[in-house]
Amino acid sequence: MSTATLLLCFEDELTLARKLADAAGLTLATVDRHVFPDGEIKLRLPTPLPPRVVLLRSLHDPNAKLVELLLTARTARELGAEHLTLVAPYLAYMRQDVAFQLGEAVSQRIIGSHLADLFDAVITVDPHLHRISSLKEAVPATQALALTAAPLLGDFVHSQCPDALLIGPDEESEQWITAAARQHHFDHGVCRKTRHGDRQVEITLPDVAVTGRAVVLLDDIASSGHTLAQTARLLLRSGARSVDVAVTHALFSGDALQVVREAGVGQIWSTDSVTHESNSVSIAPLVAAALQQF
Ligand code: R5P
Repeated sequence: MSTATLLLCFEDELTLARKLADAAGLTLATVDRHVFPDGEIKLRLPTPLPPRVVLLRSLHDPNAKLVELLLTARTARELGAEHLTLVAPYLAYMRQDVAFQLGEAVSQRIIGSHLADLFDAVITVDPHLHRISSLKEAVPATQALALTAAPLLGDFVHSQCPDALLIGPDEESEQWITAAARQHHFDHGVCRKTRHGDRQVEITLPDVAVTGRAVVLLDDIASSGHTLAQTARLLLRSGARSVDVAVTHALFSGDALQVVREAGVGQIWSTDSVTHESNSVSIAPLVAAALQQF
């Protein structure tokens, strides 16, 4: 990406945007956003726009942001942007990837195609893709790139707790556990999880000795917090010395932070893919390197 590329962001993501602009050598500008009393929004983009524009928008609380993306992308094209990249560090609607019951919308496919219609390239971090192997299958843009923050989280965990036992709360976390454990040779294991509802999960611990160990639970997303909380309770009951948590996407919806803390979790660390008080690791260098490849 040349310095002529413009990085656009919204006011609420300026902290990450500034780090990304610095790391990637991009010029930064914000999209002005006005919310009318009835909830409609009016956006204003800076002008003139260069031919290459990158929009940073993490898609937690996704519904209103999907309208923002539609308005921003279409306006950017009208203002002359020829190549549009979406950097959505957290990519929403990736979990509903099949119709579990007749009549259900397959949100991953619908939202993925919508984004591919708007953007030439889409970059995200640790998307929840478990029944497909590449982001492009879900988001058929010309370029679709899924990065992983697991090695960054692994480095951070090592700096805080070099003898950590890394535990993933479900089978899907194995990929992140393996990536994070690799560099620092952490002992590790992965639980089995059965989900009975939005806030009801059943966890089975792996056959790994946890007595006296400082455990770090590593996962992609903390949403309701019940996956982490239930796993932490079982680990502490089984004799773990401490349980800390490291996640890529700190959604922590509603009372999730309290749920996790009440389960006995000590430290809670996350990347800045979603702005949150637990942010400890920046994904900016990772995303900047990917943008430079483009
Ligand atoms: C699902 O498999 C993900 O990897 C997370 O474990 C899940 O989204 C966490 O959700 P919650 O915090 O609501 O239990």
